[in-house]
Amino acid sequence: MSSERSGLTVLDHPLVRVELSVLRDVSTGTDGFRSSLNRLAELLFMEATRHFETVPVRVKTPLVETTGAVLARKVVLVPILRAGLGLLDGMLDLLPGAVVAHLGIARNEETACPEPYYAKLPACLPEAEVIVLDPMLATGGSACEALKQLKAVGAKRLTMVTVLSCPQGVAAVQEAHPDVKIITGVVDEGLNEKNYIVPGLGDAGDRYFGT
Ligand code: PRP
Ligand code: URA
Repeated sequence: MSSERSGLTVLDHPLVRVELSVLRDVSTGTDGFRSSLNRLAELLFMEATRHFETVPVRVKTPLVETTGAVLARKVVLVPILRAGLGLLDGMLDLLPGAVVAHLGIARNEETACPEPYYAKLPACLPEAEVIVLDPMLATGGSACEALKQLKAVGAKRLTMVTVLSCPQGVAAVQEAHPDVKIITGVVDEGLNEKNYIVPGLGDAGDRYFGT
C-alpha cells in the first residue's frame, strides 16, 4: 500500500510502521537497529523498483518453453556514506547483481550543510536505473548534493529511497530535482533547532554503526 503525490511515495504498510517503531525506540540496540533497517530496505526496494521496465525472454521449464522477464536496464545503488550503507544489504539480497556506487557526504554539525568527501561512480550511470540510499532526509542538503553529482556525470533515471523524511527535506529535493522519485517510509513532523528530524530516530549513522 502506498500513497503517492507529485513524485513522492509514502510506503504506508503495517510492516513498515512496525519496523519504524523499532528504529525510533531509544532502547533498540545496534543489532536490533541493523536488522530492522535491513527489513525496511527490502520493503522500500520493492516499491522503488515497481516502475522498472522488463524485457521478455524465452525460458525453458522442465515441461515447455514460456515467456519470462529480465530487467531492461542495469541498476546502480548509491548509498550516501555512512548511514546509506545500512540500506544496502537488504537491497542486494533482492538484487545481487546490482552495481554499487559510493558517495561520501558529511552533514556539517554546526551548519547542516553537506560536505562531499568521496565519490566512486561507474561509467554506466547514464543508461542505468539509479537508486540513491539514505535512511534520513532532513534538510535535504545531502540528498540534493548527491543528486547533483550524479546528474553531472549523466545519470537520468533517479530514485531516492529514504526511511524517514520530513516536509522540509521533501520540498528541497522536489524543488531542486523535480524529476526524481522519492520513496519514503514516513514523512515526520519536521526539524528541531539542530536540524534533526522529529519525532525521528536520532543519528542514523551512529545508531547503525554503534558509534
Ligand atoms: C545524515 C544522514 C543524511 C544526512 C541527512 O548523515 O545519513 O546523509 O545526515 O541530513 P540532511 O538532509 O540535513 O542533509 P551524516 O552527514 O550525519 O553522516 P553519517 O551518515 O556519517 O552519520
Ligand atoms: N541525520 C540523522 O541521522 N538524523 C536526523 O534526524 C537528521 C540528520
